Amino acid sequence: MVQNTKKIILTGDRPTGPLHLGHYVGSLKNRVDFQDKYDSYFIIADYQVLTDQLSKTESIEKNIREIVLDYLSVGIDSKKSTIFIQSQIPEIAELTFLLSMLITVARAERNPTVKDEIRASGTKKASLGFISYPVSQAADILCVRADAVPVGKDQLPHIEITREIASTFNRLFGKVFPIPEAIMGQTPTLPGLDGQKMSKSRGNAIFLSDDKKTVGEKVMKAITDPKKIRIDDPGRPEICNIYQYYQAFFPDKAKEVKTLCEAGKIGCVACKKDLAKMLNEFLDPIREKRNNFAKQPNLIKEILEQGRIKTQKRAAETLALVKDAMKIDYRL
Ligand code: TRP
Ligand code: SF4
Repeated sequence: MVQNTKKIILTGDRPTGPLHLGHYVGSLKNRVDFQDKYDSYFIIADYQVLTDQLSKTESIEKNIREIVLDYLSVGIDSKKSTIFIQSQIPEIAELTFLLSMLITVARAERNPTVKDEIRASGTKKASLGFISYPVSQAADILCVRADAVPVGKDQLPHIEITREIASTFNRLFGKVFPIPEAIMGQTPTLPGLDGQKMSKSRGNAIFLSDDKKTVGEKVMKAITDPKKIRIDDPGRPEICNIYQYYQAFFPDKAKEVKTLCEAGKIGCVACKKDLAKMLNEFLDPIREKRNNFAKQPNLIKEILEQGRIKTQKRAAETLALVKDAMKIDYRL
């Protein structure tokens, strides 16, 4: 058996589109810091995309590529961390099936994130696969027997279900799984440029892969304090989206901006121009790394293949432990 001295973490993303600045402050930045401390697994959860976007499967492959480039360009290092594609580990699907016996339908339906997502999608006919995707996510986590899962608040209900399933398994069959802890980020959620939740579909996000000009245009369109019209009107940074970006990325500069804004000594246009410039300076080295990685023809393939091999070894080991504990490892 593989001996691990470091604790194991697993987290990841659904390949539904490129990652944005909200992902960076809420999650990617932490992952970069975590990769020395933990044995880190990052899952690209492609099967989870099928649960609600069955008609967009043709874009998954491109999105996987973009996400790997996003990871690498912010400093996730494939020599330290394991990046893998969910569907390339069939053990996860098998484990999902076994774990689905350990949770009632009523419990699965009582998941607030799933409920919100069903409501937001407007569908009255959520598929069984959709309702049960948190069980599949539990299998993502438990297949590597992770100790902890760094996630945002919306994912906590899934971690709770994972913990319950792991405890139930251990109680019924003997201890196979650690009970994974959620690691919550310290940063408040970064809003979209319009103040709504940042998301691809709302068009209010700045992507890590956006070029300079696009970043500038997006920032200039952002909603600020609506009552600050002239330069000398005192503004309210606490309700301004631009200010939130300063706070998240440039906390020292944010203090200065707050003073100037409240005193009516800076106008929103100048304030936005400064922010766009600083964000572009922040993004420049990320863009440069991205271009370099994108030029290497087989790099992504190789990284994902390495990730598949390492994860599959661990997942196969887990499944063997599970089947042995459940007494379904027949020798017939
Ligand atoms: N549901 C997560 C999201 O949408 C992605 C995900 C899939 C995940 N499997 C995971 C996150 C396992 C943490 C652990 O962001
Ligand atoms: Fe926001 Fe800056 Fe305008 Fe103040 S000056 S309201 S912080 S954009």
